[in-house]
Amino acid sequence: MTTSRADRAASWSPDSVVLGCDYNPEQWSESVWHQDVALMREAGVSLVAINIFGWAEIEPRQGEYNFDRLDTIMDLLHSAGIRVNLGTGTSSPPAWLTTLHPEILPTAADGTRRWPGGRQAWCPSSPEFRSAALGLVAKVAERYSSHPALALWHVSNELGCHNAHCYCDTSAAAFREWLRARYTTVDALNQAWGTAFWSQRYSEWNQILPPRATLSSTNPAQRIDFSRFSSDELLDYYRGEAALLRSVSSIPVTTNFMVTAHIRSQNYWQWASEMDVIANDHYLDHRLSHPVSELSFAADLTRGLAQGAPWVLMEQASSAVSWQPHNLAKQPGEMLRNTLTHVARGADTVCFFQWRASRHGAEKFHSALLPHAGTDTSVWRETLDLGAKLHALESLAGTRVEASVALIFSWESWWAAEGDSQPSTDVKYLEQVHAAYDALRANGVTVDVVAPGAALNDYQLVVVPSLYLVDDDSIDVITEFVEAGGVAVVTFFSGIVDETDGIRCDPTGETPPGAFPALLGVWTEQFFPLMPETQLVLSDGGHATTWAEHVRPTTADVVAEFASGPVPGGPAITRNRFGSGAAWYVATALDEPSFADLMGRALDEAGVEQLELRAGVEVVTRSNDSERFRFVINHSAHDISFPVDGEELLTDTTIAGSVTVPAGGVRVIRLSVEEGATR
Ligand code: GAL
Repeated sequence: MTTSRADRAASWSPDSVVLGCDYNPEQWSESVWHQDVALMREAGVSLVAINIFGWAEIEPRQGEYNFDRLDTIMDLLHSAGIRVNLGTGTSSPPAWLTTLHPEILPTAADGTRRWPGGRQAWCPSSPEFRSAALGLVAKVAERYSSHPALALWHVSNELGCHNAHCYCDTSAAAFREWLRARYTTVDALNQAWGTAFWSQRYSEWNQILPPRATLSSTNPAQRIDFSRFSSDELLDYYRGEAALLRSVSSIPVTTNFMVTAHIRSQNYWQWASEMDVIANDHYLDHRLSHPVSELSFAADLTRGLAQGAPWVLMEQASSAVSWQPHNLAKQPGEMLRNTLTHVARGADTVCFFQWRASRHGAEKFHSALLPHAGTDTSVWRETLDLGAKLHALESLAGTRVEASVALIFSWESWWAAEGDSQPSTDVKYLEQVHAAYDALRANGVTVDVVAPGAALNDYQLVVVPSLYLVDDDSIDVITEFVEAGGVAVVTFFSGIVDETDGIRCDPTGETPPGAFPALLGVWTEQFFPLMPETQLVLSDGGHATTWAEHVRPTTADVVAEFASGPVPGGPAITRNRFGSGAAWYVATALDEPSFADLMGRALDEAGVEQLELRAGVEVVTRSNDSERFRFVINHSAHDISFPVDGEELLTDTTIAGSVTVPAGGVRVIRLSVEEGATR
């Protein structure tokens, strides 16, 4: 079929806010299916993902296919008016395949092969795996591409969740091919990897390996290229399945991303343009200090991947997960609040893992929309309530989120910044990104999370947190943004290396080190990482931890100095006029109040409207050419009132002057015309 990506994406666009879920009917008998589908209708579920782990059921032996049960469930869902998000079924190879071809099993960095018995036990470069998987995809596509229930193709599942990096000989050969394409000659590779260090020089391609376990640190440039290769390799695998699906069908194709705090192996900036629809899986992570803020960040990043278009939340949990050390059940109202936070930040489809809680297997304690205890439960009642509330929001489908602040985020920088032998293991890239995001959130502004190099013209403030690795083009975009009148906030450990992980320094000493000396009007002479217990005081009364450095101002004004620590009297926060704009530099890890205060000053300078919000309250606005919808999300334990006029959609009431949002509640107001014009 020769439809364009734009056509396939347009054919997806829902005209209401959709409730969906993963469904694993292979775990249940047919009599349960009928009950399930009836309850799905009751809850307002209109999109169901099936066949995600279906391979062993539909191809029980090599070349022997049995689609009877999948046919039945497809038809059953269709007869209930439920659309299908159809998995290609390839995410976990069946036992017959790994028994026949043990070479497809992935190999860890120490050379040991991983056994089957879990999931995703396949090497991304394995030709045997690809051929078996594409064989299955061809059968699934042939059978269902014209099925009237089919709404979306779901390639594999969370590609790279467990098997992102494989170190086997097949992967090593594929890595060398990838390197040849990148560098052409071994000499160019030696140059880029700095192999003069530790006698690591290569004279032939066949000497080059993945960064397998070694006695000492490995080469950081080799590691980052292996991370790039590994992300590309799974993307290439995705392309293979997607091409096959697109050759027989014009239905949109996607896979579920893992924009989340604990998985970082895919560079989704490179994947996004290959998806017809952007879809993400997100679970609250109680190992973090601010799980709810991370949810908002992940949603904003997913919207960035979708270039602002509405996106699909492909998985979330109704209550507890089963894979964290302490799997917290959600409090009453929390599931609705989480869901509407995703919707506020651009999701028009919200799905759950999973429909019915499993009886068996590693996820039997994972929550579901329909819990083990059935329908006389608070989780089920909240499921019904959610369905009704999403229905009340249908008029905002297709609207876009308003934001005038951008935060630059980079998976490559994440990989590189947390490699071996860095100045401090306490400098965690994502923590620094989250700290900057939280400081913006505390000032009541909505943030677009964008790729390095993305156009910044539509923004008033750009935040660059600890962007350790940055290429020349991205430096230019940030510099030009400020020159043209924008305001930037750059934080420590930014612009340290180029894309080869080589330090940005000039051996002649003519220009100072770092990516932004002119823009920031400062350069750094030496880093002074801190011991974990060290607290710094700044001259403006602020506090900081983790990091200090000897900053040398050239044209910048010093805003605050270190009043304690290893660089007493040295600049800690600076501000430089540059072109028609200004660039702030923060040479330490500010604590939350100090960072929020600094961000407030930069937002003022950029002219960004800030809302006076109580702690724990989020306000986000979605709009189109004619309407604006304001979400007021109250994560706090107190009722709040927020000034607004319009029509509240969840309670179907008219709001004049201010809306009361109960503790833990959410209100969504279609702004009255005057309100829309002024706020
Ligand atoms: C995802 C996965 C689902 C399920 C879920 C549990 O990683 O796609 O199949 O395992 O997590 O939270």
